[in-house]
Amino acid sequence: MATDSLFKVLPPDGAQGNAATVAITFDGQALRVPRGASVAAALLAAGVQRFRTTPVSGASRAPFCMMGVCFECLVEIDGVANRQSCLVAVAEGMTIRSQLGMRELHEPATVAGETRDER
Ligand code: FES
Repeated sequence: MATDSLFKVLPPDGAQGNAATVAITFDGQALRVPRGASVAAALLAAGVQRFRTTPVSGASRAPFCMMGVCFECLVEIDGVANRQSCLVAVAEGMTIRSQLGMRELHEPATVAGETRDER
């Protein structure tokens, strides 16, 4: 069931919507969002409704708690996966991607000259 977001960013005290913004991209789409907002708040205000999908059912997920508890807001930020977007402030030029399904695990780098125990 799709619903319209009820999330709205209030203008700073005394301002009438003329706040400073930064440029970011989300899944390749260029966005201008309020400087100082969390990534989650900025994306919600821009109308983004799917931040990730679940690894099991593929259901769409979006921020819920906005305080680092629920992990529903996980996204990839500047190439780093599993970032809690509600805990990261937007920055100029930030590249954000939604997380679809399970993340890939990468083998840890081996130290030169060492062999791995493959038992
Ligand atoms: S919205 Fe719950 S951890 Fe980010």
